[in-house]
Amino acid sequence: MKRLRTQVGIVGAGPAGLLLGRMLHLEGIDSIILENRTRDYVVGRVRAGVLEQGTVDLLHQVGLGERLQREGLRHCGIHLGFKRRRHRIPFDELTGGRSITVYGQNELVTDLIAARLGTEQPLYFDVRDVCVSGFDSAPRIAFHLADEECEIACDFIAGCDGGHGVCRPSMLATAAQVYEREYPFAWLGMLAGTPPSCEELVYALHDRGFALFSMRSPSITRLYLQCAPHEDIDDWSDARIWDELTERLETADGWRPNRGRILQKGITGMRSLVVEPMRCGRLFLAGDAAHIVPPTGAKGLNLAVADVQRLARALAKYYHNGREDLLDRYSDECLRRVWSVQRFSWWMTSMLHRVPDGSEFDYRRQLAELDYVTTSRAAMTCLAENYTGLPFDAEGLASKS
Ligand code: FAD
Ligand code: DHB
Repeated sequence: MKRLRTQVGIVGAGPAGLLLGRMLHLEGIDSIILENRTRDYVVGRVRAGVLEQGTVDLLHQVGLGERLQREGLRHCGIHLGFKRRRHRIPFDELTGGRSITVYGQNELVTDLIAARLGTEQPLYFDVRDVCVSGFDSAPRIAFHLADEECEIACDFIAGCDGGHGVCRPSMLATAAQVYEREYPFAWLGMLAGTPPSCEELVYALHDRGFALFSMRSPSITRLYLQCAPHEDIDDWSDARIWDELTERLETADGWRPNRGRILQKGITGMRSLVVEPMRCGRLFLAGDAAHIVPPTGAKGLNLAVADVQRLARALAKYYHNGREDLLDRYSDECLRRVWSVQRFSWWMTSMLHRVPDGSEFDYRRQLAELDYVTTSRAAMTCLAENYTGLPFDAEGLASKS
C-alpha cells in the first residue's frame, strides 16, 4: 500500500474542492485533492453560469480574476417575464451598484485546475473506491489510483464531493440530520450555438411552465425549460425544444430567443437539502456535499464558494495561530447563509414554476406576486439584494497571489 501524508485531504475536484485547495495553498497549507472522474469529464460538465459579486471579488483576491475579467459578462439586472411582457429589475440602481457575472462553471473549473497544476500540490483524477474514516482522532482517506491501493493520513478531511459523494453518507452514520424537499418538476437545459437575443437573463412564467433565457458568451445561448422529473431527453427533439421555448419566452413586442444548433442537452431534477451540522469531528462538508438548492436563483455554486471561504479561513487560523474557535463556529455560520439562500431559492422556484395539477388559484396568485415584484421598489430591492448575493463576511483571506 502507498502511504501519503498531508495537512488537509480534499475529496472532490469541483469548484468547492479546487477553490479550497487554492486558498489553502496561498496560506502555505498543504492538501491533496482526490477526484473520481477524469479531468476531461470534470471540465466538460455544463452546470451553473452566474457568479455573485462576492464570488467574483473572491476569485480576484485569490489570483483567478484575469480570464474572468476578460471573458465574463457583467450584468446589472435581470428580466422577469409573464403575460407576454418582460420587466427589468435593475440591480445596480437598487443595491448601490452590485452586479452579477455570467461565467460558466466549467470555465471556472478550468482556471482552478490550471492554477493547481501550476503548483507542486497533488490533484489525482480518476481515483476509485474513496473511503473516509477516523474523523474523531486520526482522519484517513483510502482509495485506489490506477490499480494501486493508497491511503492518506491527514489532520482534516474536507468533504467537497458534491450531491452524490461519499463524505455526506459517511457522516450520516453519526448524529447528523438531513432536511430535504423534492419538487414535482425538473429542468431541461441546453446550450445553443447562437448569439443571445437579449443582453440579460430572462426568467419567465408561462401557462405551460417556467423557462429561462441565459447565455455563456456573445455566440452561445443557454436555455432551460420546466419539464416533468422523469422525462426522457430522447423524447425532446431539437424542434420540440425550440417550439416550447419560443412559446414560453416570446413577448408581445416580438422578442424571442434566436434559434440555432443545439450543442448539448440534459434533464436535471430539483431538490432542496441541508445537512446539520456540516461538521463531524475532523470532517468538514462544503458545497453540494452539505446542501443542495433548486437552481432557480443560481445559488448552488455561489453557496459552495461562501462555505469554502469560511473553511479556508478557519483552517488558516488553526495552523497559523493555533485557534480552533473558527473551526468550531464553521457549521453554525455557514448554515445561517445556507438557510437564507434555501429560502430565496425556494421562493424563486415557487413563484416561477407551474405545479403539475396545481389550481388556477395558485397560478393567479403567482402572477399577482410577479406583478408586485416588478412594480414595488421594496419587493424589487429584496429580489436584487438576494440575487446579487448577501455580502460575504468582511474578514476575508488576506493572501493574494
Ligand atoms: P460538484 O461540482 O458536484 O463537485 C463535486 C466533485 O466531487 C465532482 O467533481 C465529483 O465528480 C466529485 N466526486 C463525487 N464523488 C466522489 C468520490 N467518491 N471521490 C472523489 N470525488 C468525488 N447551480 C446553479 O447555480 N445553476 C445551474 O444551472 C446549475 N445546474 C446544475 C446542473 C447539474 C446537473 C448539477 C448536478 C448541478 C447544477 N448546479 C447549478 C449546482 C452547481 O453546479 C453546484 O452547486 C456546484 O457544482 C457545487 O460545487 P461543488 O464543488 O460543491 O460540487
Ligand atoms: C443559469 C443557471 C441558473 O440556475 C440560473 O438561475 C440562471 C442562469 C445558467 O446556467 O446560465
